[in-house]
Amino acid sequence: MAFSRVFSDPPSKSIFRTFAVMLLSILASLYFLHCLAERCGTCIPMERRETGPVEGFYVSKLKDFESLRRKRLKKWTSTRPLVMRRHRVSEENLPGLEANVKLSNSLDVHLEPGGSYLDTGKLRTLGEGSKKLPQAIIIGVKKGGTRALLEFLRVHPDIRAVGVEPHFFDRNYDNGLEWYRDLMPKTLEGQITMEKTPSYFVTHEAPARIYAMSRDTKLIVVVRDPVTRAISDYTQTLSKKPDIPTFESLTFKNRTTGLIDTSWSAIQIGIYAKHLDNWLQFFPMSQILFVSGERLISDPAGELGRVQDFLGLKRIITDKHFYFNQTKGFPCLKKAEGSSKPHCLGKTKGRTHPNINPEVVQRLRDFYRPFNMKFYQMSGRKFGWDD
Ligand code: A3P
Repeated sequence: MAFSRVFSDPPSKSIFRTFAVMLLSILASLYFLHCLAERCGTCIPMERRETGPVEGFYVSKLKDFESLRRKRLKKWTSTRPLVMRRHRVSEENLPGLEANVKLSNSLDVHLEPGGSYLDTGKLRTLGEGSKKLPQAIIIGVKKGGTRALLEFLRVHPDIRAVGVEPHFFDRNYDNGLEWYRDLMPKTLEGQITMEKTPSYFVTHEAPARIYAMSRDTKLIVVVRDPVTRAISDYTQTLSKKPDIPTFESLTFKNRTTGLIDTSWSAIQIGIYAKHLDNWLQFFPMSQILFVSGERLISDPAGELGRVQDFLGLKRIITDKHFYFNQTKGFPCLKKAEGSSKPHCLGKTKGRTHPNINPEVVQRLRDFYRPFNMKFYQMSGRKFGWDD
């Protein structure tokens, strides 16, 4: 009907209508083709993209890292019986894995022998609870006995700790608190989440950053005679770089004048009073517990008692949990967390130190004495390093 009317209308009107009809049909065809293309797109296999937020570089890096970890873990566990799968990582049982896993300048997680991959939180997908930011942190000091303290504390049912050193408040701060929380193991109501990164104690920004996370964070520092600590620190570096100069030559700026090189980190870390001063700008002494590295070896249960009190926990870890291993020369756990077997720390803990010139040792003792006195005063405990 419409078609015959087009032909019966005057010519100008008819041309206009014909043009309008053609335009409409072209538009309709284009729309039809568009719809067809859309439908095909869902049928042809295409690269699938997540509709969620765009993943940042570090998140994807972390995923790569996780997948690498899973692969290594799978390879490692596939050769061992199932019961061994929640085994702690140590140099002996995970060959070929670097102790310090670096991913990029600002994303690195330190895995120490003794730390467990399964306790990084990322791999602990089973189990109840949720990941929380730590309420207590072992902030130092390097070579003080921090691994021993963390391993012993993990025996407590109300403590869950991440095995790796997250280095969040020094190296990885730009990754944000969610990145940090995600590293933590899941905890139930009433359980305390913990981590240890010994370099925090000497990181200038760490107190302000931890305070910004939570002003209630409990801080634990394992301190050890600064001279022995310095030698232990040097021994660790020497084990990785055998060509470094002698301890004696690194100690002095000028050997003849006896001027000590306080810029050498092995020396600097031991000036505890100076570092503590920085922490006291943000936290009261009542929130910082100093553990004696020496007592942790001679009386682990006694020191653990103090730590449990400080954390407001029942004293569950006692003498019964430890035995002295003659071969290792250190106290070990009768049963490690989640295992029924005795557990000593790996061979990177309790190294034999090189002999250091006694005069140099004496010079260092003299150097540290006033700082130690100040530290005893500030902390309210005599550690007996100068007796
Ligand atoms: P050495 O290897 O110099 O003896 P950190 O874990 O902070 O790096 O500290 C390492 C130090 O922890 C070791 O230093 C060792 O003396 C000390 N330590 C304390 N208790 C220990 C234990 N039960 N087993 C092994 N080392 C222990």
